[in-house]
Amino acid sequence: MAFQTPPTIFILLSLLTTTTTTTTTSPYLSPTTLPQNYQNMLSTFKIFIYTPNKPFTFQTPPSSNFYKFLLNSNFVTQDPEEAHLFFLPFSQPTSTRALGRLVKDVRTQLPYWNRTLGADHFFISSTGIDHSSDRNVVELKKNAVQISTFPTTSENFIPHKDVSLPPFNPDPLTLPHVPGNDTTTFLGYLKWDGQTEPALVNELKGDVDFMIESELLDHVEGVGSIRKRSSTSFSFSGSRKSKFCLFFYSGDVARMVELMGSGCVPVVIVDRPIQDLPLMDVLRWSEMGLVIGTRGGGRGLKRVLLGVGEERYEKMRELCVEASRHLVWNAEPQPMDAFHMVMYQLWLRRHTIRYARRNWV
Ligand SMILES: *[C@@H]1O[C@H](CO)[C@@H](O)[C@H](O)[C@H]1NC(C)=O
Ligand SMILES: *[C@@H]1O[C@H](CO)[C@@H](O)[C@H](O)[C@H]1NC(C)=O
Repeated sequence: MAFQTPPTIFILLSLLTTTTTTTTTSPYLSPTTLPQNYQNMLSTFKIFIYTPNKPFTFQTPPSSNFYKFLLNSNFVTQDPEEAHLFFLPFSQPTSTRALGRLVKDVRTQLPYWNRTLGADHFFISSTGIDHSSDRNVVELKKNAVQISTFPTTSENFIPHKDVSLPPFNPDPLTLPHVPGNDTTTFLGYLKWDGQTEPALVNELKGDVDFMIESELLDHVEGVGSIRKRSSTSFSFSGSRKSKFCLFFYSGDVARMVELMGSGCVPVVIVDRPIQDLPLMDVLRWSEMGLVIGTRGGGRGLKRVLLGVGEERYEKMRELCVEASRHLVWNAEPQPMDAFHMVMYQLWLRRHTIRYARRNWV
């Protein structure tokens, strides 16, 4: 019978097999094209930076890191004619009115904005820019690529166009890249701010499979033992003993990359789809972490976690460790780290823009 199977079925089957092989070994969405594309970016990508009205620095990481690294990089060109993208720097906070004036100046004084109505421009705004009725700000928000910090309020982020910066890792030197061999004791670990979703957290606290560390409680509620801990020294040791690390989307994601690097699979708790994950169009997030809503409560959450089979879990864990090096902010930019991968996402966005340019001119 098998011999009579139409050839198309064989093709489909082999495609499926190929896809499976790829997904099992790589944290990347496009593992075959990424290395070459990345090299092309390093050798050709050029960015023209408008001169700010007055010199400034960003006050908070990771925006400050990105801005500083960009200014000092080889991507900067003084020649706007060879630029793929234009960077519009402005200090923050900047009022909507000042922002509108800034765009208007750029529009009237130089020819570059009008060619694409801002589509080959990008800017940094840590919290993302809000809706506005000012025509200039509308164009900036709708057309230019925004770089904000993850997580970004959803109204302030346009999926597929905008880019989010990976959370700043507080201490890059201690970032482990190899998962420890600690045997896992807990299903889930959560560092709790003492406020978010108290009902759900209380449910988890009563469950021996979860370890909740809380600033307010001033001690670790590991189950079976309560260890005293000063509220300032979080060891995150619980994460090393847990299969999954839980985060509230709105909450403290600063350690997410570090915990992923040590082999703790991230679970983001949020009641809507999230589209601003860092390196969203580079990494295979759906195979590295879980997004779970609050509706099912602690029990529903636990059911989802228990539903992840051992094989799938090990794969997720491996991919997390591998992906974490791309999400790390180093003291100086390193190949394929957070800085370079954000640059890479900008590089991916230049195509759309060239097409737009041809249409507009
Ligand atoms: C860009 O277009 C606007 C009209 O939308 C015009 O006022 C402005 O002078 C143009 N800028 C340049 C540099 O030609
Ligand atoms: C951790 O486990 C792996 C395999 O499970 C083993 O190869 C490695 O030597 C172990 N490392 C340590 C430090 O025990």
